Amino acid sequence: MRCRLLLCLVLLAHAGPPAAVAREYAAVFNFGDSLTDAGNLCVDGIPDYLATARLPYGMTYFGYPTGRVSDGRVVVDFIAQELGLPLLPPSKAKNATFHRGANFAITGATSLDLSFFQERGLGHAVWSSGSLHTQIKWFQDMKPKICSSPQECRDLFRRSLFIVGEFGGNDYGSTLFAFRPLSEVHALVPHIVDSIGRGVEKLIAEGAVDLVVPGTMPTGCFPMYLSMFPKPPGMYGGRTGCIKELNTLSWVHNAALQRRIEQLRAKHPGVRIVYADYYTPAIQFVLHAEKYGFLRQTPRACCGAPGVGEYNFNLTSKCGDPGAYACDDPSNHWSWDGVHLTEASYGHIAKGWLYGPFADPPILDTKHLG
Ligand SMILES: *[C@@H]1O[C@H](CO)[C@@H](O)[C@H](O)[C@H]1NC(C)=O
Ligand SMILES: *[C@@H]1O[C@H](CO)[C@@H](O)[C@H](O)[C@H]1NC(C)=O
Repeated sequence: MRCRLLLCLVLLAHAGPPAAVAREYAAVFNFGDSLTDAGNLCVDGIPDYLATARLPYGMTYFGYPTGRVSDGRVVVDFIAQELGLPLLPPSKAKNATFHRGANFAITGATSLDLSFFQERGLGHAVWSSGSLHTQIKWFQDMKPKICSSPQECRDLFRRSLFIVGEFGGNDYGSTLFAFRPLSEVHALVPHIVDSIGRGVEKLIAEGAVDLVVPGTMPTGCFPMYLSMFPKPPGMYGGRTGCIKELNTLSWVHNAALQRRIEQLRAKHPGVRIVYADYYTPAIQFVLHAEKYGFLRQTPRACCGAPGVGEYNFNLTSKCGDPGAYACDDPSNHWSWDGVHLTEASYGHIAKGWLYGPFADPPILDTKHLG
């Protein structure tokens, strides 16, 4: 949406959420993993191995699978729509135009490069389709398609929003899946946070001045981990029913990431870096389900093939696999497939990032408008 300041002020007086019309982005560039993948693994058709690109994935909004790992839109789709931009095309799409942005996110992405895991004997555990730094390389390679001179590129990027993450979920997940001790998983935190920080600085060097850096989800609330790693009763949160030590890991990561963001803000005073919170809203969905229109229950996947047990999850037979079906109404559930969230959840998170309270500062914080 384009408007002059004066017109915006007039619109402000009359219509809806003010910041949406007041802040204007030329484009949005998104980097991430399956939380925001828009189909980068599906641009040449749906690969046989990819259950997440089969129904009922995509059932709610698109009516068909798109490669998004949800029943519908993901957070970055809602953000693009709220900003008046088209849905960001997956960056590998053959036929797309990227002048209003691109989505480099790809399912399985890690923050750290594959070599990091190989050096630790974890190469086999990582399904690395494109780390953060690989995605930044894709972004750099795309520049000739979206701007025709270094000055034009810098000018476009100065007016664009860059979303860098979430990253970390797969770095930690791969290590957990390899049954490495939790102390070893915790030892990854500074490496992962450092990698995200380096990614942010590469984008700043390209001309980005407005960045959003999301933290990780409370992985101890994922039906997948709850069903795979049964714990003695004392190891679950009394109110959430989530695995405490995994949520602590996510919390420690997010705290370290926020400290890194503080350092980056101090080092780059002309750049705005927003911390975006996936953790708090997901915990809220568990603790205050009704407030968001969700059923109050232990964390439970909506979709399975079929799911089993109280978490409705079976690792060898998941959503998208033969026989998969979804719960009656995905909009009643925050967890979609046991790892990823429903469109309804992502909508609440996107609004919380744009207008508060789930981002610091909110992306459309009117205090920042000149
Ligand atoms: C590619 O673009 C052309 C022209 O805009 C369009 O007709 C065609 O449907 C597109 N193909 C795909 C696969 O999107
Ligand atoms: C999980 O799925 C597999 C493959 O479909 C099936 O053989 C197994 O019985 C399921 N597990 C449970 C506990 O039902």
